[in-house]
Formats: sequence, structure tokens, C-alpha cells
Amino acid sequence: MAVLASGRGSNLQAILDAIAGGRLAAEVAGVFSDRASAQALERAQAAGVPAHALSPRGFASRAAFDDALFAAVDALGPDLVVCAGYMRLIDPGVITPRAGRVINIHPSLLPAFKGLHTHRQALQAGVAEHGASVHFVSADLDGGPVVAQARVPVQPGDEEHALAARVLAREHPLLVETLRLFAAGRIALREDRVHFDGRPL
Ligand code: GRF
Repeated sequence: MAVLASGRGSNLQAILDAIAGGRLAAEVAGVFSDRASAQALERAQAAGVPAHALSPRGFASRAAFDDALFAAVDALGPDLVVCAGYMRLIDPGVITPRAGRVINIHPSLLPAFKGLHTHRQALQAGVAEHGASVHFVSADLDGGPVVAQARVPVQPGDEEHALAARVLAREHPLLVETLRLFAAGRIALREDRVHFDGRPL
């Protein structure tokens, strides 16, 4: 797989740890970031994984940047591209031909709370349950078919950071387990629907 990450990289670390620990039969062929200062790049280097930074500055458009980024990604020949805390929209012209080969982890129970500040959105909405979703990336922001979710309770008096930490702790095993299923060939996207063991979810 190739991993795209913009920041801290704790989800990337969960993947690297699962591979190193023999819990995920996969390889991270490269990590790509739109931010040269991303901690994710340091985590990749520490694990001996090639780390690449590509700044959107200097590109005339989103499409031009994404074309360059995915040309570099494609050069590694990944079966799957994993957006793990990748904070940029990806141009539909790049995503559409790769449908079923790009996944994202998003910190909400989609379709609830798309976009940014999901924990704040959940608290403001007063929901009793929050969580995280892994979904196939489509042209629709955070709107692609959901593969798997993890649920956490919202507790009385919760504030954003506590809730975010509770969700993040569930994101890591959720992402690793989803990648295990994908690597085993048990998850696929067909005609815009997630299939598990050959049957539509
Ligand atoms: C995670 O909450 C992820 O779901 C969201 O951004 C955060 C990234 O965290 N898209 P990290 O960089 O993996 O630590």
C-alpha cells in the first residue's frame, strides 16, 4: 500500500506496528505528505519506509497537484492507497479511475459529521454515540461507501479532546482490521457497493 498523511501519523504508526508485529501481511511501499513537516514522514523513515513530501504550492490547480502526487504513488504499484489523516481534498479526476483502490479513515460515524471538527460537531449535535469510519474514497467528500465503523459512547460532560482521544484509540484497530480484510481479498468495491466475501454489505 501507499499511505497519504498530513500530520501526526498515529494511524500510519498503527499500520507499521501491525506489520512489524506480524498482525498484518502487507507492505507500506511509501508514505506521501503534502506537508514536509508532517510527523508521519518521520515515522515512515524510522520504519525504513520511503517518505516523500510534495507541496501543493507551485502547482496551478488541485488537479495538477493530484496528478503529480498520484504519478509518484503509481510508480510504487500499490494495490491500495490509504488516506490516514490526509487533510486535502483529492481531485475527482484522480479518484474516479481508482475507485475501490483508495480508502480513508474519518473520525465520525458517516454519513454523520463529514468534513472537519467532527468531535465538536458530534458534541454540538448532542449525540449519544460517536465513532470512526473507514470508507472508499469517491468524488463526494467523506461520502464514499462505508467499509467498517467503530462506535464509542459520548459521556456526560465530554469535551472535544477527551472524545477525540476515545475515538482515536478505536481508529487504530479499525484501520488495521480493515486492511487485514482487504489484504485477504475479502473486501472489494463493485458497482459502487462494498462487497464482503463476495456479497454486498
Ligand atoms: C484521525 O482522527 C483521522 O481519522 C483523521 O485525522 C486524524 C489523523 O490522525 N482523518 P493521525 O495523523 O493518524 O494521528
